[in-house]
Formats: sequence, structure tokens, C-alpha cells
Amino acid sequence: MLAETIVTHVLTRQARPYFRLKPVKESVLFKPDRHGKYLLYIHIPFCENICTYCSFFKVKYSKGQAVSYFKALKKELSLIKKLGFSFDDLYIGGGTPTVLPEALFSLLDFIRSLWALKQVSVETIPHHLTGDNLKRLKECGVNRLSVGVQTFNKGFLDRFNRWMNKSDMEEVKIKIKGACGIFDTLNVDMIFNFQNQTLSMLDAEINILKELPLDQITYYPLMYNGNLLKFTPRGYSRREKRLYRYITEKLSPEYSMTTPWNFSRNHHGMIDEYIITHDEYVGIGAGSFSYFNGHFFTHTFSIDDYIKRVNESVIPLAGYGFFNKKARIKYDLLIRLFSGMLDKTEMKRKYGRFFLLYIWKELLFLLLLRTITIRGGRIYSAARGNYLFLLLMRHFFSFVNYFRELSKKLSH
Ligand SMILES: C[S@@+](CC[C@H](N)C(=O)[O-])C[C@H]1O[C@@H](n2cnc3c(N)ncnc32)[C@H](O)[C@@H]1O
Repeated sequence: MLAETIVTHVLTRQARPYFRLKPVKESVLFKPDRHGKYLLYIHIPFCENICTYCSFFKVKYSKGQAVSYFKALKKELSLIKKLGFSFDDLYIGGGTPTVLPEALFSLLDFIRSLWALKQVSVETIPHHLTGDNLKRLKECGVNRLSVGVQTFNKGFLDRFNRWMNKSDMEEVKIKIKGACGIFDTLNVDMIFNFQNQTLSMLDAEINILKELPLDQITYYPLMYNGNLLKFTPRGYSRREKRLYRYITEKLSPEYSMTTPWNFSRNHHGMIDEYIITHDEYVGIGAGSFSYFNGHFFTHTFSIDDYIKRVNESVIPLAGYGFFNKKARIKYDLLIRLFSGMLDKTEMKRKYGRFFLLYIWKELLFLLLLRTITIRGGRIYSAARGNYLFLLLMRHFFSFVNYFRELSKKLSH
């Protein structure tokens, strides 16, 4: 536990200076730097219900605003097409992308008319898993559907003001079962480490999950840096470690670990964290992030400002920042370790022969802790490091939240 605390403390201190955002009015830097393809991320910031734990950017759904928003998204897509961006993978996240299903289907058709997509992943919630929606999502080329279940425990659903699936857990299970086998990957998002969550409560949830024919399960530790959950309660870390170990043991060997928080039975490439599977991504929509060519950008966090500026043919950015070579290499190291492997040849191609000079201290430390192993030109995360990497992921998300706060300040 001590080693883990030290590593996360040192790494977060090192990362802090890079997380600065400068205001940006024009989109001079927002253009493709190469002929390659990026991942396209689209943010849909609407939810019918606001859950108190959620740290993502969202507002309460209103039909009028959502209709204008979806229209503006099409306009922004045309703008970035004109700038020369090209995409083969698409991730639509939120919020709840399926709040206005017809608008989503029309958006998907529109994107397909602009680019030939290979993989499309969409987030949704259990009560949107209707026969009609599933059929249309499939027809629109969605091959990965990620369903936010979070918990099957009614007490926790109550505590977090999550009403949608509280009424009938049997119904939720039936809905999820009905969605299995349609897409290449059906994922469910779960959260663990609720206050007072015991091993037997967790055990009951995993038993339910194991009865369902899922392809993937994402288990996030409850993060206390979002909207309303500001304070980390006592006993949080110890319980987190214990429950996490239980999850990894109980899901194995049926499910294998794709990242420390993602477990797959049937792995087809995409996971909830598109930033792990894609080096560079372009985000569009209010509250989205982009990272490419060493720069990161955030879009405005005001939905009205977003619609207004897109209609003036402007990419509605809020801020941008720059990662120098050292920061880029460290960022890459972290992301590679999350996904389990860092290939030295690939790193040399990207950063030159001497890239190890930038990260030898981190690697040595991780080696001493026996959290990584080196074999045949590759660096692998070791099973012993799983919990440490989960912690690093949690800290990484804290930075993302910090970023959201900075961007909100820069938005109108
Ligand atoms: C963008 S959210 C999608 C939420 C979706 N609208 C729903 O209601 O299920 C993506 C995932 O982030 C996770 N998440 C959000 N806030 C979290 C927090 N505070 N701690 C841990 N995981 C969180 C949830 O598992 C959620 O499914």
C-alpha cells in the first residue's frame, strides 16, 4: 500500500505542470497533422436523470435543446471534414447518447456518408434497450454497445439518485439479455467501492453478471472527485483494494483482463476508454476533449455557446495545451501500461532511439516493485501491478476532472 501511495503521489506531482489550459478563440491549431486516421469522439451531454456520483459533463435533457444540439453536431462534422480530418473509428459517449434515438440514428447515417468507419461504439442505459433501438443501432453500423448498469443494489441506486433501473432489477436483466449477441461487443459498466459495500454484496452482483451472456464488463472504482462527492470517506482505499482483488479473482478465468478495469470474454478491440486504444483522438460536441499532434483541446462546456458558434462556422473550442516530448513519452508509457504492453520498437519509431532516457527512472522504479517485466523488446505490466495501475487510472481521471473544471471556467 505504501509503495502504491508513493508512486501515485510522485507521478501526479510530475504530471501537474502539464495540465494547463490556455484560452483559445480561433482554431488555428485544430487541423490534422498527418494523413493517418484518428478516432472520432462525439459527446452527447444530456441525461434524463442526473446521478450524484457522475463527474462527466451533462445537463438535464430537454428535447428542444437536444434537437438543436444534434443539428449543430452535423454542422461541426462538416467543418472538420473540410479541415481534412479522417476517421475510421467512432466512439459516442455522454451523458446518454440514446436520449433522442432518431437524432442519434440520423447522426450515425450522416457520419457514414462522410467517412468509412470500421468500429462504432455507443454508450446507453438499460431502459433504452428497446427492440426498436437495438435494431436501428445495429442497422446504423454500431458494433459495440456499452450499457451503464453501475450496480444491481437498490440501496446504492437510491443513494446516488439513480432512478432509471431501480424499479425492477429483473426487467434490467431481461433487457440486457435481449441486447446480448446482437453486436460484436456488449459491455456493461459497473462501479464498485460504494461506502459500506461488503464482499458479499459485491459477490451477489458478480453472480448476476456471470449469469448474463455478456462480452465485456468494465468495473470502475467509485471516484470521489466529481460533482457532489467531494470527500473521500475513511477506509476507502483499503476497501477498494480488497474489493478489486475479489473482482479480478471472481471474473477469472471466464473473463480475461484487457485493462486493469476492463474484463473481456470476447475481445474485439474497443473498450470504454478509447484513449487507451487510440493514440490520438479528435473530440467534437460540447465538453469534449481532443489530443493530437502533441496538443490537447477542450471544446466549450456551454451548450448554447456550442450551438451558436458552430452555426457561425467556428470550431467552438475553450482551451488548449501542449505536451513536450518528455510529457508525450510519459503519457504514452502510462497508456501502454494500462493496456498491458509497451513495444520498444514502436516507441523508437515515434520518439527516436533514446526515448528510454526520458522514462528510465519510472521504469526502474516499476521494475523494483515487480509491477512490470521486460521480455523480447517489450515491457509488460505484471499481474502484481494491476491494483497500482487501477490507482493510476483513478488519478488520471482526477486530472481529467480537473481539466473539466478549467475548461468550464474558460467557457461562456
Ligand atoms: C459517461 S458515463 C455514462 C453514464 C450513462 N449515462 C449511465 O447513466 O449509465 C460512463 C461511465 O463512467 C462511470 N462513472 C461515472 N462517474 C463515475 C464515478 N464517480 N466513479 C466511477 N465511475 C464513474 C460509470 O460507470 C459510467 O457508466
